[in-house]
Amino acid sequence: MNMKRIALSGIKPTGIPHLGNYLGMIRPALDLAKDYRAFYFIADAHALNQLHDAAELDRLIFEVAATLLALGLNPENVTFFRQSDIAEIFELAIILAATTPKGLLNRAHAYKAAVDANLAAGCDGDAGINMGLFTYPILMAADILLFGSHAVPVGEDQRQHVEIAQDIAQAFNRAYGEVLTVPEAVIGEAIADIPGTDGRKMSKSYDNIIPIFAPPDELCRRIMGMVTDSRPPQQPKDPEQDNLFRLYRFFAAPAEVESLREKYLRGGIGYGEVKKSLFDVLERTFGDARGRYEKYVKDRPFLESVLRYGAVKARAAGAPMLDKVREVAGIR
Ligand code: ADP
Ligand code: TRP
Repeated sequence: MNMKRIALSGIKPTGIPHLGNYLGMIRPALDLAKDYRAFYFIADAHALNQLHDAAELDRLIFEVAATLLALGLNPENVTFFRQSDIAEIFELAIILAATTPKGLLNRAHAYKAAVDANLAAGCDGDAGINMGLFTYPILMAADILLFGSHAVPVGEDQRQHVEIAQDIAQAFNRAYGEVLTVPEAVIGEAIADIPGTDGRKMSKSYDNIIPIFAPPDELCRRIMGMVTDSRPPQQPKDPEQDNLFRLYRFFAAPAEVESLREKYLRGGIGYGEVKKSLFDVLERTFGDARGRYEKYVKDRPFLESVLRYGAVKARAAGAPMLDKVREVAGIR
C-alpha cells in the first residue's frame, strides 16, 4: 500500500512552454514529486476548447511531453500521461456535473472574462463561448478528484479552479458521504506571476513569452526585445521594478543576484549589460536540457510509448475511485 500523499497537475498543450510555465508550475511540480506520489499530465481535452486544429494539437502534445522529459520528469517516478487516454476522467466529470451548482461555474474567472469581453464589445454575452469553456472547471475537478489528490501545484491564475474543485468535491460528499478528497493548491509566493517581455504576466495569449527551449538566436532576440524604461546606466534603479531583474533572480546563483542588485541600487549598470547576463544564465540553465528536448521531440514513437505507459498506470490508479463514486451514486 502506497501511503505517500498525492500531487497532481496538468498543463494544456496550447502553445510552446515558456518560463512562466516553468517557474509557476513545472519546476515546483518536479520538486514536489520528490516527496509525493505524483501524477502529471497533458491536458489535451482542456486544450480542445481553444484549439480546433487537430494537426497543431497533436504537435503541441508531443512538444509538451518532450519538454517535461527534458526538464527531468522521470516516468518511472511520476505517473505521466495524456488526459484523453483516461476515459475514467470523462466519466467522472459527467457524474460530478450532477451535483455541481451551476452558479459555481457562472462565477469562474475565465468564463466571466469571456462574457464581460462580449458585453463590452456590444455582443451577446455568450457569443463564441463553447460549453467546454463553461464546464472547464468540472473537467479539471475530475482530473484532480479521480486520483484522490492532496496537492495541486499551479500558478496563481489557477487558484480559483482548484477552489472550485474543492467546492465540487464538497458538494458531492454532502450528497453521498466522504468519498472525495478535498485538494489544496500549492502556489509559491515569489513565483505566482512571472513577467513577460512586455512586463505583463508572461502568457501565450499576450505574445510576450520566452520559450524554455528557444534556440540561442531566438532567445537573444526575445531578451533584447524586453521592455525597459529609458533611464541611463549611471542612474540608480529599483531592481524589483525591472522585468529583467525580476526574471534574472530566478535563474542566477544567490551571490550573482546580490551583486546585480547592488549595481542597480548604486547605478552604473545599463539594461544592455543586464540583458546579456540574463541570456547567459538562461543558456547555462537550459542549454543541456534543450539538447535533450531536441532529441526527444523528434522521437514520436518514444514519446508515445512513455505516454501509453503512464496511461496504463493512471487508469489503474483512478479506476477504484470511479467505481466507488458509481457505487455511492447508485449507477452501478
Ligand atoms: P498560459 O497563460 O501561457 O496560457 P497555461 O494556462 O497553459 O499558460 O499555464 C500552465 C501552468 O503554468 C499553470 O499552472 C499556470 O498557472 C502557470 N503559469 C502560466 N503563466 C505563468 C506566469 N506568467 N507566472 C507563473 N505561472 C504561470
Ligand atoms: N487548467 C490548467 C491550466 O490552464 C491545466 C489543468 C487541467 C490542470 N487540469 C488540471 C492543472 C488539473 C492542475 C490540475 O493551466
